[in-house]
Amino acid sequence: MRKLPKKQSILLPDDWNIIEEGFHPQHNFMLETIFTVANGYLGLRGNLDEDFPDKCQSFKATYINGFYEEYDITYPEGGYGFAKRGEAMVNVADVKTFEITIEGEKFNLFSGKIYKHIRKLDMKSGTVVREILWESERGRKIFISFERLACFKRQHLGAINIRIKPLNFSGRIKIVSKIDGNSSNLLETEDVRVGSGIEKFPFETSKAHCSELKGFLMQKTKKSRLSYGCMAEHILSFGDFQHKSFADKEKNLVIFEIEFDAEKDMEYNLTKYFSYFTQRDVEEDLIEERCAAEILEAKKMGFENLLKEQREFLETFWENADVVVKGDPKIQQAIRFSLFSLLQSTGRNGISNIAAKGLTGEGYGGHYFWDSEIYIMPFFIYSQPEIAKMLLLYRYNILDAARKRARELHHRGALYPWRTIAGKECSAYFPAGTAQYHINADIVYAIKKYFEATDDLEFIKNYGAEIVFEVARFFSELGHFSEAKGGKFCIFCVTGPDEYTALVDNNAYTNYMVKMTLEFATELYNLLKEKDSNALEKLCRKIELLKDEVLLWKNIADNMYLPYNPELKIISQDDSFIYKKRLDLSKIPENQFPLLLNWHYLDIYRYQVCKQPDVLLLIYLLRENFTFEDLKNNYEYYEPITTHDSSLSPAIFSILAAELGYLDKAYEYFVYTARMDLDDLNDNTKDGIHAACMGGAWQALVFGFGGMRTNKDRLSFAPKLPQRLECLSFKVRYKGKVLKVEITKDKASYTLLEGESVQLSHYGSSFELKRGQAKEFILAN
Ligand code: BGC
Repeated sequence: MRKLPKKQSILLPDDWNIIEEGFHPQHNFMLETIFTVANGYLGLRGNLDEDFPDKCQSFKATYINGFYEEYDITYPEGGYGFAKRGEAMVNVADVKTFEITIEGEKFNLFSGKIYKHIRKLDMKSGTVVREILWESERGRKIFISFERLACFKRQHLGAINIRIKPLNFSGRIKIVSKIDGNSSNLLETEDVRVGSGIEKFPFETSKAHCSELKGFLMQKTKKSRLSYGCMAEHILSFGDFQHKSFADKEKNLVIFEIEFDAEKDMEYNLTKYFSYFTQRDVEEDLIEERCAAEILEAKKMGFENLLKEQREFLETFWENADVVVKGDPKIQQAIRFSLFSLLQSTGRNGISNIAAKGLTGEGYGGHYFWDSEIYIMPFFIYSQPEIAKMLLLYRYNILDAARKRARELHHRGALYPWRTIAGKECSAYFPAGTAQYHINADIVYAIKKYFEATDDLEFIKNYGAEIVFEVARFFSELGHFSEAKGGKFCIFCVTGPDEYTALVDNNAYTNYMVKMTLEFATELYNLLKEKDSNALEKLCRKIELLKDEVLLWKNIADNMYLPYNPELKIISQDDSFIYKKRLDLSKIPENQFPLLLNWHYLDIYRYQVCKQPDVLLLIYLLRENFTFEDLKNNYEYYEPITTHDSSLSPAIFSILAAELGYLDKAYEYFVYTARMDLDDLNDNTKDGIHAACMGGAWQALVFGFGGMRTNKDRLSFAPKLPQRLECLSFKVRYKGKVLKVEITKDKASYTLLEGESVQLSHYGSSFELKRGQAKEFILAN
């Protein structure tokens, strides 16, 4: 078994804030990720606000969810159907770096003396605030603070407020502010998980102009041919200042210089409002006007009111989504950071989704994966289903691209890309990319869970059923009834979730999830026939679906080959897995992990070794199909050979270990999941947060220690707390009802907050709650 990494955090524990005290340039790269503010559309990586010398690792970035540049994927030895053109989230113009000069001396923390430096991400106010007390080399002492936000209620708007107060002098202060369109993406790095194929400078600047303290820059990507615009305007709290501004299209720059005579002990305040729009949001020629309207509104509101609005938005968010954990302050902080980061990362406009690294860094090219549906979506389904719906709408909006991809691979139906932004398959390594056909079923699984939790038949009629039918149609062509396997339906040459085993026959996860897909497709077909036959007919006409096809789905589902090894009493991961040599992970030096960076894939594929759960994930997702014995046997078999080289891994182990009663172990896996980024446990937080892992942290609390399971129309619970936790409480939204669950060491209580009544079960005993009613159960220790 592999020992899980542990580290001392440089961030202070606090229930609602992430706090850095002191200045830590050696951790700058990672802290830039942590201190990102984003609103699901606009992501401002947490770069220092001041321009500083090249003395620490840094990557200055601003991202717009769903805004991408294309790049050619070149293979010296290519092949038919290989992804040829990738899409990567592109780094857009920077507005958050300032040059501040005090009587000719440049303010930066690498010179002079720092008396105080505190940086705080406040998860109730949705801001990052830095407060600095600094003395220049020539002895000028000054207080400076920066407060930054990306407005949740105004997705195209952000603002930065700067306060400056000279403490022991009066003198000339100059602030240079910019719209700097010279951003580029990280080029290829040693780490295959980082770096896009985007060329050095991906833009052509089409507009750059300014007047007074307001300016606009517009750029177009060279390959995807998408424009975006960025407008910024500055408001000063005092009248007596001089300013100049320049716009230079050739230099991709708009610059503002503001100078004033500052008096000792007086405070000077500057607010910069900025707005971004892209051609994916509005027509190209409306971009400037929309930015201007946004800024005008912001000026009318003023910074204080924007802060108030942000707080109100977050109050509602936390009201619905908060999870309270008592016993370990680092855990309370980590879970809130996870939920907050998910909110910050999630596109809510139907054309964007959740990148594996959110809007915080360049890892995985800003691509969307199955991470969204299997790891992150449950949090939204059971707390804010309207966001889950927008994420599924995104899948509907790229359905045509998925149909096209299926055709390219000579299939009917739809094949969703393993990784993408706007719908194209962007994975250049097909064995751990296109071959992960299970993504199709993962999307269906999320639709199924969403429908079960919301009864949103309109969504199914208008969007969901079409996706499910097209995916079912694709799967019915992916395998065949194999005589040698007793006439069972087999699927050959696929990759399951475990990326350390590729291109295998009858991957259990895939086969079971395909079976689930085909059953659900049949169920939806019958449901629509009963509830709205006109809608069904219309859809069948649109996609030319015949009744025979639906009968075939049922036949395949009933005859799916489901791998099982009776001697070992386990589900074999695939046809060949159990015959391979088991890798003894305890013999591998720690510095060899993750194996994918240190071993050739062929070497990895040859062994029984898993990057992440495959069979165990299947058991977790389709829990009602398996017994406790199945769970235990498979857990014991697969745990020792799992490296957790994917951050998606430990949460699932935590949940299953909790069910098995291995509570210490469950807690250890949970802590690894929850603190992944705050403690930089995998040494790569610099490239961005691990969004799926954060969704996993929520699942580990609710499904793991909360023991929640959802079955057709009932929620059931089997809670148990690990030694280290004193109390866990959360809310669940299910079929329009809101339930509050509170668990302590010796009791569990359930209160119905919204809805007439609800049927629940606690350790198998059913009960009903009416609105406002609570029921308590004693927990056996
Ligand atoms: C995992 C995938 C995941 C991807 C993006 C990989 O390391 O193996 O399952 O989708 O990261 O998070």
